[in-house]
Amino acid sequence: MSDTAVSTALVEARGLGRIYTTGPSEVHAIEDVSLVVEPGTFVVVRGRSGSGKTTLLNTLGGLDRPTSGWVSIAGQDLGDLDEPGLADLRRHEVGYIFQAFGLIPILTAQENVEIPLRLVAAPPRERRERARLLLEQVGLGGRAGHRPEELSGGEQQRVAIARALANAPRVLLADEPTGQLDSRTGKSIIDVILGLVRTENIAALVATHDPMPLAVADRVIELSDGRVVADSY
Ligand SMILES: Nc1ncnc2c1ncn2[C@@H]1O[C@H](COP(=O)(O)OP(=O)(O)O)[C@@H](O)[C@H]1O
Ligand SMILES: [Mg+2]
Repeated sequence: MSDTAVSTALVEARGLGRIYTTGPSEVHAIEDVSLVVEPGTFVVVRGRSGSGKTTLLNTLGGLDRPTSGWVSIAGQDLGDLDEPGLADLRRHEVGYIFQAFGLIPILTAQENVEIPLRLVAAPPRERRERARLLLEQVGLGGRAGHRPEELSGGEQQRVAIARALANAPRVLLADEPTGQLDSRTGKSIIDVILGLVRTENIAALVATHDPMPLAVADRVIELSDGRVVADSY
């Protein structure tokens, strides 16, 4: 990206491609994807299974390297970063939510939320207070001492959201966050994410094949065979 570019975008991608090579075969998981996402935007990334949603989120979030094109997060070109630099950017700027929640079973909700704060060596007291505040924000103030198995699926996903937000990222990436939830619980998770977009002015990209979030999305990007076939505000 040019040094003179003045951009408020939180996520920017140009000509993004990711080819997976397995033996003699090549899969173009995403191809020539370009997008710009501004703060305060709730984006739904839709498309059927295998259309490239996960690959797109992973390359945007620095979990995977593209094979062509470039990505920048909050003005930082990911291609300029080595692995520690990328890990650092993920820790500070990007929150991730997965379909399977990804909580650590032996830790309480509070301790799970504190993990990213430990990674940035936040002092214990600050960690505790921040985690408690985040759990309250997702409506789980009364469940801080519960382990994942003592929580419903929807509650576990709320803990995962609180954890993703621990270091106040400006970009939230959610890969099928409602995939394991019934429709009512799924709606409440989408409402929590939408509320955060509105109050914290973050950008959220939610990959899903569930039609429910479409109704509240600011923007819908549709993928088919790894390409953007529709992008509507
Ligand atoms: N690690 C991988 N190795 C090889 N092919 C992969 C890998 N990950 C994804 N793919 C392929 O890339 C395409 C896009 O996958 P994915 O991004 O997971 O789509 P979605 O999340 O929309 O289901 C699919 O054809 C899938 O089989
Ligand atoms: Mg996927």
